[in-house]
Amino acid sequence: MGNFIVTTIRKPNAATENLAMELAEKLGGRFVIREDFSFDALRKIHGAENILLVKKNSLSVVTVEGELFFHPNTAHLRIKNLRGGEGDRLIDALKISTGSKVLDCTLGLGSDAIVESFIAGAAGKVIALEINPLIAEVVSYGLKNFSDDSPHILEAMRRVEVVNADCKDFLKTCADKSFDAVYFDPMFRRPIQKSSGLNPIRPLADSKPLTPEIIREACRVAKFRVVMKEHSGSKEFERLGFKIAGGGKYSSIAFGVIDLAD
Ligand SMILES: C[S@@+](CC[C@H](N)C(=O)[O-])C[C@H]1O[C@@H](n2cnc3c(N)ncnc32)[C@H](O)[C@@H]1O
Repeated sequence: MGNFIVTTIRKPNAATENLAMELAEKLGGRFVIREDFSFDALRKIHGAENILLVKKNSLSVVTVEGELFFHPNTAHLRIKNLRGGEGDRLIDALKISTGSKVLDCTLGLGSDAIVESFIAGAAGKVIALEINPLIAEVVSYGLKNFSDDSPHILEAMRRVEVVNADCKDFLKTCADKSFDAVYFDPMFRRPIQKSSGLNPIRPLADSKPLTPEIIREACRVAKFRVVMKEHSGSKEFERLGFKIAGGGKYSSIAFGVIDLAD
């Protein structure tokens, strides 16, 4: 995750400063009093690549690419569409419904996990894994504390359980058929530059390709489906044994499905 420090906004209150100290201890980073320093100055003084920034009601990570902070992003519109009776390509690919249990192996900014959680509802469960501790912390804090949205979206956010783990290790700890669906949205082998929503995550995100061993484990853990999102035309689908799901004919992204009921 690179060398990082933890600090606060320029005029923190006691709660903000305490949280910054707690997070520094939890994540093994150094807590630094902000004083009046700019991010560039802090980076130089402390030889740090990334800065975990504690604000009054949110966390963010300042990287060389910009600031990574939590926001429901596309989840907001997708949930609005689902409530209006429209479909969602990910939900169709996962084939989940109320009460489903989903293992989302790649939390990232959390938009997909929020949509899965909206569909699974209070009777279901979404566990979302993130390998990078800074991303996991910022997004998990946001899912618990973000408040500027409608109640059904906030409820869906609060229900997502974030685990800071490598899916390769986590899957091994799961019982056979313990989730209805397992989902992967890895960093694309060839990034789509215009998907600027993901740009701040790039310096922190893990870009290692998935392996056949990980997919085999996912097929053991899922009851019905394993799904992967990638670039349309990506060779990853064939390499890892996915069939392309229908829909999104003109889209630059595609969903691959392994149907375990087949
Ligand atoms: C493309 S983003 C996921 C975006 C997400 N679906 C969303 O809606 O925001 C991929 C994320 O998966 C994480 N990741 C990559 N490899 C992983 C692994 N082996 N285990 C857990 N997380 C992983 C990356 O660090 C990155 O944050």
